[in-house]
Amino acid sequence: MDLVVFPSRPLRGEVSLPGDKSLSHRAALFGALAEGDSRLENFLVAGVTRTMLNGLSALGVGWELDDTTLTVAGLGIDGLLAPKALLDCGNSATTLRLLTGALAAAGLPAALGGSPGLQRRPMNRIVEPLRAMGVSIEASKGGRAPLTLSPRPAQQRLRALRYELPVASAQVQTALLLAGLAADGPTTLTIPGPCRDHTQRLLTSMGLTIETRSVGEHGAHTVTLEPPSRPLRPLSFVLPGDFSTAAFLIVGALITPGSDITLRNVGLNPTRTGLLDAFSQMGASISVTRKGERQGEPFGDLNVLHSPLRGTAVEGPLVVRMIDEFPAFAIAAAHADGATVVRDARELRLKESDRINSLVRGLGGLGVKVQERDDGFELRGGQAAAGGVARPNSDHRLAMAFATSGLAARNPITVRDAEIIDESFPGFAETLRSLGSDVQVAN
Ligand code: S3P
Repeated sequence: MDLVVFPSRPLRGEVSLPGDKSLSHRAALFGALAEGDSRLENFLVAGVTRTMLNGLSALGVGWELDDTTLTVAGLGIDGLLAPKALLDCGNSATTLRLLTGALAAAGLPAALGGSPGLQRRPMNRIVEPLRAMGVSIEASKGGRAPLTLSPRPAQQRLRALRYELPVASAQVQTALLLAGLAADGPTTLTIPGPCRDHTQRLLTSMGLTIETRSVGEHGAHTVTLEPPSRPLRPLSFVLPGDFSTAAFLIVGALITPGSDITLRNVGLNPTRTGLLDAFSQMGASISVTRKGERQGEPFGDLNVLHSPLRGTAVEGPLVVRMIDEFPAFAIAAAHADGATVVRDARELRLKESDRINSLVRGLGGLGVKVQERDDGFELRGGQAAAGGVARPNSDHRLAMAFATSGLAARNPITVRDAEIIDESFPGFAETLRSLGSDVQVAN
């Protein structure tokens, strides 16, 4: 499927967005680990969360989806069943890493794999610390998926872990905290910088004791989880809209003259909203109205106006707080006045695609010159895309970024293989249209 975006119409109006991807994965899985029924409203129904739901079915967990309300019949950690076949996690590293942590806690035999893209992604970052806890786990060649877990005798606990993560990764942290539910003492992780803390917030709301302490500079911190003395409480949670999805609409409005949009009930967890800090350095007109918290997760409305932007530098602890937003950010930076540089972002090479290289090539094909750096990229602003054809390299966020650049390009932009967008935002084209953009689907 091709998506064709025609330039020049302002974005105007207000929308609510599908539920946050990270929270949807966690809420569904943690609900399965609780005892009793969890009710999750505004759950993200998309490719990546389908893999989690299929995985839960394979572990014997019942769930029901009514539009975007998910009910999960939690079995408790010890109630999960061993899957009979390989758990296919598709393109979703979150599904694979989080399910591995939960299966390690349950002590069940399992094999977990996924798409060729998923098999490129590094898994030793969970395999090695899980082994240190006593989990019997094998990776495939080069520390990649498929992963194989062997059973652990009933009643045998995992060893309490003290571990320093080499990179600030929320998926790794979550996999290890989940395994820590079955440890014989506290799990203490040292994380070298800020990273998304949804796991801590949700598990705390389910009755667990988790302590976070700042250690040293640049957001380094420790997270300590006490193994539970009683079953996890089920969740009743209305999920906020996904900030990472909002990012494309924010950028679309910033770069398209005459735009004025409001995004309702978006997640505003500060470990996720680094893009707002970067845009504030660039002079963007974005106002944030905080409305409250649910399960410890803040949310609110964002009003975004078309704005002249100036180039900026993004580096250090800010990088992880906007790790999924660089494809969208690059489009805004191309419209800014002056140079923008992104450093300390080598992790981008290990996402759904090598996001540094795919961005540089994809934008190059649309007439936007970007220089690749080993740990990021740099570009001169004042470059509206010329238009043309972009290939997203099986990466949903690149597809949405290229489409967004079409809103303020000189000619239409065609995004090939655009069905990949359904991995995280099935309503992307309809949402842009509802805000007044001219977006067409061609086959
Ligand atoms: C996620 C964490 C991030 C992010 C991914 C979702 C999560 O990955 O890029 O889209 O839900 O924990 P890393 O933990 O590998 O940085």
